[in-house]
This record gives sequence, C-alpha cells and structure tokens, in this order.
Amino acid sequence: MTIIQSFALLLVWAALLAYAAYRGYKIFITLLVRALRWVPHRATSPTPFGARFASGILRSFSLDDDKFFCADGAPEEIAKKRRAGMDNLARSFDEQFAASQKASETVLDGISDLRFTDTNRVPFPFQKLVRERLNVATLALSSEGPHIVDLDGNRSLDVSGSYGVNVCGYDNYKRWMEAGWRRTKDLGPVLGPLHPIVGENLAMIKAVSKLDEVSFHMSGTEAIMCAVRLAAFNTRRKLVVTFAGAYHGWWDGVQPGPGNERKITDVLPLKDMSPASLNAIRARKDEIACVIVNPLQGFNPNSPPPNDLVLMTAAIRKAADSATLDHYAVWLKELRKVCTECEVPLMFDEVYTGFRMAPGGAQQYYGVHADMVVYGKTLGGGMPCGVVCGKRELMRRFDPERPLRVSYVIGTFAAHPLTMGAMNEFLRWVTTPEAEQVYEKIGKQFEHWIKDVNDEMKAENLPLSVHNLTTVWTVIFNQPGRYHWMFQYYLRDEGIALSWVGTGRLLVSLDFVENDFELLKKKLVNAAKRMRDDGWWYLGTPDKPITAQSISAAMGKEMAYNTVMKTVREGLLAEVLCLPEQHGPRAPKAVPPETLQEFYEEVMRRKEDDHAASHSNTVNQFMHLISSTIFIINYYTIWSNCTATMATGLFSLFLRQSGHAIFEPPCHDEEELLLGFNTRSKCFVVAGYTLAPLISLLRLSNDVGFFLALASIARSWLGVTLFFVLGHTGLLWMQYGFRISMVWLIKLVTDPFTDVLVYYPSAVTVWTTKDWQTATWDNFLSHLRGEPKDDGAKSAEEKKTQ
Ligand SMILES: Cc1ncc(COP(=O)(O)O)c(C=O)c1O
Repeated sequence: MTIIQSFALLLVWAALLAYAAYRGYKIFITLLVRALRWVPHRATSPTPFGARFASGILRSFSLDDDKFFCADGAPEEIAKKRRAGMDNLARSFDEQFAASQKASETVLDGISDLRFTDTNRVPFPFQKLVRERLNVATLALSSEGPHIVDLDGNRSLDVSGSYGVNVCGYDNYKRWMEAGWRRTKDLGPVLGPLHPIVGENLAMIKAVSKLDEVSFHMSGTEAIMCAVRLAAFNTRRKLVVTFAGAYHGWWDGVQPGPGNERKITDVLPLKDMSPASLNAIRARKDEIACVIVNPLQGFNPNSPPPNDLVLMTAAIRKAADSATLDHYAVWLKELRKVCTECEVPLMFDEVYTGFRMAPGGAQQYYGVHADMVVYGKTLGGGMPCGVVCGKRELMRRFDPERPLRVSYVIGTFAAHPLTMGAMNEFLRWVTTPEAEQVYEKIGKQFEHWIKDVNDEMKAENLPLSVHNLTTVWTVIFNQPGRYHWMFQYYLRDEGIALSWVGTGRLLVSLDFVENDFELLKKKLVNAAKRMRDDGWWYLGTPDKPITAQSISAAMGKEMAYNTVMKTVREGLLAEVLCLPEQHGPRAPKAVPPETLQEFYEEVMRRKEDDHAASHSNTVNQFMHLISSTIFIINYYTIWSNCTATMATGLFSLFLRQSGHAIFEPPCHDEEELLLGFNTRSKCFVVAGYTLAPLISLLRLSNDVGFFLALASIARSWLGVTLFFVLGHTGLLWMQYGFRISMVWLIKLVTDPFTDVLVYYPSAVTVWTTKDWQTATWDNFLSHLRGEPKDDGAKSAEEKKTQ
C-alpha cells in the first residue's frame, strides 16, 4: 500500500469513527442525559415501546362467573350483592333497550370497528361476562338539544360529545348542515371546480389559525398524515417527535405504541413537560421534521387517553390539577422557544381542542402559536372534515428547484361543497363576538357545576370527583378498586349517553342550560350511590383491607399465570407437563388444608388415590420398591456424589416409569386428578431426561474426557431436575394456591418412603404373580397415545374397518 492509499484509508476510518461517535452522542443524549447537570434522566418515554412489547406477550383470559364478582378478594356476601346489582342492571338494560339490542345484533355482526369498540369498553378479564349481560345498544333515531333519542324511545343526556365534534349543540349543527346544503346544492357533488364559499372559509381559517395556507381533508387522521408528510418534505428531515400518550389519529406513522403492527423507527416519543425532552430536541434538531403536540395532554400529561378499558385500578387514571395545567402552559411556551431556536416546526394537533378550548382553540387558550395547526371534528359544522394550516414554506407540495421532487398529498373529496357549506356556517358563527361570550358564559357555568358536583360527592361520601379542562371533563376515582369501570353502566342505566371510552373522556356542549346541568348532577350522584350500595366499592375489613397493592398483586398473579400457562400450553411442553385445559381447572376444586392435621391427611389421601389409580400391578409395585429404595439412597448421595446420584436416579426413574407403561392399564383421568403427570407425559419426561445427558456426554467426552464430562453433566442435570420440580410446584401454586402446591411437593418428596412401606410385600409375591402377563405391546402403545385402553383398542378397530 502506498502512503497516499494508507492516508486515504485512515481518513475514511476517521470519518466513519467521527460519524459513529456523533450518532452515539445523539442517541445517548436522547435516551439518558439531562445535559448541564448530568443527572441521568430519560427523555424518551418507555411507554409506547413497553406497551407494545407487553401487548405481544400478555395473553387474554376471562374471569369466570365465580371469580368475576370477587376479583379483588371480596368475601362471598359482597360478591352476592354485586351479583344482584349486575342482575338488576341486566334486567333494566333488557327492558329499556329491547328494540335497540335486537337491531344492533345484525349491525354488530357486520361492522368490525363496532365490534372492536363494543368489546373494548372494560378491562379484558371482565369483557366476556359484561358483554353477555350488559348489552349496550348503539342505535339512535334523533337528537333534541343535548339529548339523544334511541330506537326504544329513551331520551338520554349526551356527554359523549360525538367524539368531540359536538362543541356547540346538535341543533346548531343540524341548522348549519341544512343552511350549508341550501347554499351549495346547486353545485351538488361537483368536485374539482371549487364553490366560492371555499374562499370565504379560507379567509376565516387563516384568521383563526394565524397561518398562511390551508388544505382540506376528510378526517383528522388524514389531515395529520398530510401535515407530517409536508413537514418532512419541506424540512428534508425524517424524524417526528410526539409526546407520550398523545393520540393523533389511527395512522401508524404517529403511533409507535400498540395499535399498529409495523415497526415505526421515525417517531421519537418524548416525555411531556420534561427538560430532558427539550435537550433531546436541541441535540437532534437537524433530523426532526416536526414536533407534534396534542394540547389536550395538558389534562393528563404522559398518559394515554384515559378510557375505561385501561381502568384496571384507580391509579391508572389521573387528571391534572390547576398547578399542573399552569406548568403545562409554561412548558408549551418553552417548547415554542426551543423549536424556534432550533428551526424545528412546531405542530399543534387541534383536531380535538380546536374551537373547543376557545374559539381560537389551544393556540388562543395557551397563548402559544404553532407553525402548523391541524383541525377536524367540529370545524366541519357537522360534516366530516380535516384541515391543515401552515406557514407557506411548510405547505409546499413541490420543490421549485427539482421538478421531480413532489409531495403527493391530494384527495377526491377535499373541499366537498356540502362540507364547505356547513363549515362556512360554523365559521361565520364561531368568529363572532357573540360566540366568544357563549364560550365564556358556559365555561364559567361549567366550572361552577364541577365544584358543585364535587361538594355533593364529598357530602354523600362517594369516592368520586369530576375534573375539567374547559368543556372536557373526566371522572376520577379516589380509592382503590377493580370495578370502577362498572360506573359507566350505572350512568347508562340512569340515562346518560357515553361514548365507548366510558367515563374517561366526557364533554358538555355549549347548548347546556341550567336544567341540563342539574339533571346531569342528579344522575351522576344517583348512579354513584347505586354502585356503592351494590358493593362494587367495598374496601375490605381492617384486618383484610383491599388496597391498591393487594389489587395489583392479584392482577399481576392472574396475568402472569395465564400468560405463562397459555404460552407453555401451546408449546411442546404442554404435552410433557400434562397441563390442564384452558377453561377451568383440570382437577375438581381442591380444598386447601387449614391445619397441619388436614395437611397430613390430604397428602396421605393423595398417596392412596395414586396407589389405587395406577399401582395395582404386583410387578409394577416391585419395580417401585427397587426404585424407591434407590431414591432414598440418592437423598444421601446427592450431597457427596452428583455423578452417582444422576446415574442411579436415572435408572430408578426409568424403572419406575417402565413399571407404569408396561404393566399398568392407562388411567389418565385418575392420574391427572392428582395434579401430577400422567403416564404419557411421564414417558416424555423420562425419555428427554435420559437422552439429554447422554447426548451431551457423547459430545463433551471427546473434549474433556468421559469422567470429567459426566461430573459436569450430572451437576446440570440435578439443576434441571430441581427446575422441573419447583417449576411444576410454582404452576400449581399459581393455579390452586400455596397450600395445594405444597401438598403436591411433600407427596412427591416423601413418595419413596411410603412406597417402600406399602410395596415391600411385592418382593415376595412378584416371583409367582400372574401380573407379568399384562405386559403387552398394545398396552404400552395406548399409554403413549394418551388414550384409555378401551378407547385405544376401539379406535384401532375403527381404523381397521375404514
Ligand atoms: C387529537 C386528535 N388527532 C387526530 C384525531 C383523528 O381524527 P379522526 O378520528 O377524524 O380521524 C383525533 C380523533 O379523536 C384526535 O383526538
């Protein structure tokens, strides 16, 4: 190599190293470091990745009828009350919503996203029974002010706000849709040429957003897709910064957490209200296409939308207090400053907050201006819409210098005349001084209502409070509990209309009058009293309290157990370990022994059952006698000579198992009732158990010599044995409780001693017994097939005749 070549190579290496160090620094600063003070502090939120990881692992299960009502450990008398409460609700639902329920059957069956929302109203372990009992019909015929009239003629007070669309009151939207249609119907469905009304809308939206250009879309999600794509195109950067928990529609490009299957590598979810996030933005400014904020997150920073589906415990749902909201406003201002300093576009997703928090949306409410703003929902005046507004340089769809470089964002129904008409009516109203006054008046009235409701809840000693951010509100549960999600059903029964997310996100519209607020309060308090009286908020007794920790422990155990069992059950180990079927325990409900005497009796009873079930053959008994004697010796040799223990232990195990497989008839049911292994699974275990050390021995003995290899394999083998025994004990513990698992373990460990005591007469009788004749090939095969002998024979017969 010449000097020049070496020098060039060195330069390339140096450049590569410098680049790697630069990338490493960025990742480091993003993940770990709050610069300046050098205190470890993560900027990235682990929630999306953690939740996604967990969603791939956690397995579903349903609490059965018994467990459903006492999943928090409540005693039987409380479970009874709850059961009666559920019965009453179910009866009332069936009476009130008979026609809707009938009609919704066909709809539910055919519309998949309805099926999704219908299922996901409550935490998954409770879903099955709730869906069976409390059928929430979703068919409605008309709206009257803030009331919705369903198919059965029930009028319910609506606090769902139609997912956020209903800011101003349904009657207003009906008027705007009609007026909008009157003004545009001559053009009808013509697309391409624009109705002149579009120009008026453009001017009003520009005035509200204080931005230069606008583009029209069909939904909030579509508008977000457009905005992100334009930001990336015009900045020539890829990375999109979001904040933990924020929802921006269902497009996977802004959903790094669960909800989409694609791996998203160009979204950086940062922590809300964290200085580390500002440092991460500074450090990666030349990669960031935009920073998206959903200003509603001020209400629950760093948490996902607080629906009832996730309401496993009270701790999961929080609402910001006024101090946090003030901090959030300061945080947005800081974020604005950093984005300006770094030349990174700041985007507000105002699909929910636009025209709700104030006529000028969150920009007006917080006094912060963004470089791009996305609107949707209410802006359509009752029609579906999405709108992107932005600075001119961020809205370009083509590159003036490179004609082939374009950002292809366009849509058939953009600026549809009917949507533009309704939007125009809405915008003309919302930009009047009168609208400003209505927002202010209802805002004040609502704040007063919130205080009033909370005072009443306190006076009635009910564990609830309501919290709001403008006309968005939520229910907070002030004590631990596993059943808070039931509250949504009591509210429905009282005649309150909720969306599928339940009590986490509620809305009032600007057409609420004093009577509506009064009615809403009455229904809320009534529903809470009924729920309390039905025992759902039981807190235990002083010596056995139900606490957040006890609930978490019970949930953790259920989840771990079901996940482990399902995962193992589906693999090869299911066969080997002879695991119970998915639904219900394999054994009849085992009663845990209370006293030491009962414990002893239970162990002995199982030994007798075991003996009666599969130890009737004299030859088998004799083989057990030998094998048990060896095991007893092994209890001693295990401490001094692992190799001998393994060799004799394996021989003894083999002998024992052969006794069953060759001489005893199959009797799986009885064996399985003992919570152990049946002959088939034992055959698998013994085969694997014997083969594995043998194979390892063959491989290792070439390298280290036979005896050295044998010694090390013996140690591992004893470890594996311990793992199997303790693993099975653990599984039994999770399914049947600690005492039952100990019964199994003690029985297993003491079996060699009791076997010797019971089977020693076989040493004499074995030489003359006729039991040797049961050793047939068919008998052995039916063990392996896992069939009772008769069935096995029958199926073989059937096969022959086919
Ligand atoms: C903040 C935010 N962004 C985007 C969307 C998506 O809007 P759409 O449902 O119209 O697609 C929503 C919907 O709830 C939203 O709340």
